[in-house]
Amino acid sequence: MSINRFSFGSVPHTEVVTLNIKKSDNNLIPYFKINNSNELIYNLYKDQVIYGLGENVRGINKKGWIYESFCSDEFDHTEDKRSIYSAHNFIIIHGKETFGVFIDCPGRVIFDLGYTKCDEISIKVPENDYDLYIIKGQSLNLISKEFRKLVGSSYIPPKWAFGYQQSRWGYKSKDDILDIVKNFKKNNIPLDGICLDIDYMESFKDFTINKDTFGGFKDFVESLKKEGIRLIPIIDAGVKIEDGYDVYEEGVEKGYFCVDKNNKPFVAAVWPGKVHFPDFLNEETRKWFGKKYKMLINNGIEGFWNDMNEPAIFYSEESLREALDKAEKSKGKNLDVYSFFNLKDSFLQISNNIKDYKRFYHNLDGKLIRHDKVHNIYGYNMTKAAAKAFNVIKPSKRFLLFSRASCIGMHRYSGIWTGDNKSWWQHLEMNIKMMPNLNICGFLYSGADTGGFGSDTTSDLLIRWNQFSMFTPLFRNHSSKGTRQQEPYKFDEDTIDTLKNVIENRYAFIPYIYSEYMKAAKNDDCYFKAITFEYENEDLIEDQLLVGDSLMIAPIYKQNVKGRYVYLPEDMLFWNMESYKNKKLQILNKGHHYINVPLKSTPIFIRKNKALILGEHNSCVDKLKNQSLDVIAFMDKEASYIYYDDDGITKEYKHKDYELKIYIKKVEDDYKIDILQTSDSSIKKINFNIIDINSNKITKQVFLK
Ligand code: GLC
Repeated sequence: MSINRFSFGSVPHTEVVTLNIKKSDNNLIPYFKINNSNELIYNLYKDQVIYGLGENVRGINKKGWIYESFCSDEFDHTEDKRSIYSAHNFIIIHGKETFGVFIDCPGRVIFDLGYTKCDEISIKVPENDYDLYIIKGQSLNLISKEFRKLVGSSYIPPKWAFGYQQSRWGYKSKDDILDIVKNFKKNNIPLDGICLDIDYMESFKDFTINKDTFGGFKDFVESLKKEGIRLIPIIDAGVKIEDGYDVYEEGVEKGYFCVDKNNKPFVAAVWPGKVHFPDFLNEETRKWFGKKYKMLINNGIEGFWNDMNEPAIFYSEESLREALDKAEKSKGKNLDVYSFFNLKDSFLQISNNIKDYKRFYHNLDGKLIRHDKVHNIYGYNMTKAAAKAFNVIKPSKRFLLFSRASCIGMHRYSGIWTGDNKSWWQHLEMNIKMMPNLNICGFLYSGADTGGFGSDTTSDLLIRWNQFSMFTPLFRNHSSKGTRQQEPYKFDEDTIDTLKNVIENRYAFIPYIYSEYMKAAKNDDCYFKAITFEYENEDLIEDQLLVGDSLMIAPIYKQNVKGRYVYLPEDMLFWNMESYKNKKLQILNKGHHYINVPLKSTPIFIRKNKALILGEHNSCVDKLKNQSLDVIAFMDKEASYIYYDDDGITKEYKHKDYELKIYIKKVEDDYKIDILQTSDSSIKKINFNIIDINSNKITKQVFLK
């Protein structure tokens, strides 16, 4: 393994990389040539696969398209786009030559991955100030681990954050929230969190609570928590300009906001109308803004989502003036096609326009730097401000935190959700394909708006999406105002019943999901992987994923299909799971299969010589007792599993290994089970279901002291 660093221009200190690697001689860059336009050029071999770029459109293999790292408030995630909310500048090229490439740069980076020329990668950094890291290693897994050593370990949320979260832009009051709780309870559907969208605030002002609709907030938060349900409020990047509003007034007084060319706080418009953007690149601003979360924490809040932090801009004073002037001048004129399109575009392209990103400045290390040059580290620094503050406010507590915009580096502080997708089958497919690439970029705690944010969902899409999201660490059903409501109980009885089963399955799988997440985070490993990360001689399969160490999944992401083809890289144990309580298992041999997957079923596959650990569901994570667990092992001669569990709320995991190691070995006609415990655990009993490759089934119970 080796990591080499090559430096170009003067790189602003992004604090993305945590290892100190000496610069190498730029004449010795392996694999790449630099052409006359300062682009890094690599000649692709036929059949090389390109993984990476985290949150972006298209498949797991990124080859054949051109992508741009430039965090964008892009609500239309169609495949002609080049960037969405995040900038994840890491790729692994795999094949005849295998290596990782990371571009540490706070501004725009263009990855032309066989788009302009089929057999060529070109990486262009328009500002030409960046560090290039090349990671050499023997395998995809090793390169991805080595990369995480370079950029630091992934964020660890509290355990309750692995429970189901319900959300919608449109929950307006305590009554709305109580109605959700009532309906979940009535239908016996587990629930751990309800997200509060912008309507909980007073006129969309950060760190305020609307007293008319959310009066008695603290008692409300506490009373829900007693039922195992946490409220998770949103915080937006823009601070409303309003006299008498403390955040605005302090920010202006202390100079904490980004400035325009005249050194005046820059004015943009987002939800509340005119806002200023805190200069999160400045440490003092971060400390100040971070402390503001305390008000909500003092009200009992334990989780947040940071939004609109690309930052999204609806319009600036200048851009609106320009557009209105143009409209004014067009009044009474006979507009031909081009002048009409020009007028139309001045409004259609007013939001998130590059011209606005060039109109404001940050104070970075005492120097003013134009926003567009450091655009991609803005959301990261907003989220870092929150995470660092949590460490001060409640040092030993884990908080839930997920952000919309991000760049690599932010994975140390929080998770992400994948933004404003739509209730489209192809967005479910994109969600599946995005997960392994997000993982290699360090973002383990992630998930999409289950059911789709924009557009109207359908019951079958919602079911299929839940069947995938039951494996994503962040499992949240979120939708936009104006779309069909998609809380599980809004559908017919059959749908409610199926969704309830899927969500219960999620809770029964938490012992496995949490173990695998924690081990991945602690060992710089991935929770979701493409097949090729473990089966090195196989070709990439775009729509099958490995989840943790023991499982492969093959989700359904097409409407009205009754089944699908699946390729097994080795013999596996197939479970077409309706309810975790009914373990109908079947051995499938290595090779291609067509599996029937009724709408109620989630197909999962247990890998050979591996084990799956399961508990039982309950109404929320806090109530999971997990004193008795089930192990399903599929094996030839021996299998092992490391079960990880901890208190789920403190940071003690940093000092202790809460592991229970299970070894199963075939000895003549029987199986010998050894359990090694490194610390106390709540488990009293493990029920073993062992299935060997000859279909022999053995059940055993082991009691623990
Ligand atoms: C943005 C977010 C979305 C949220 C909405 C209102 O579009 O991505 O999740 O619901 O803003 O706050």
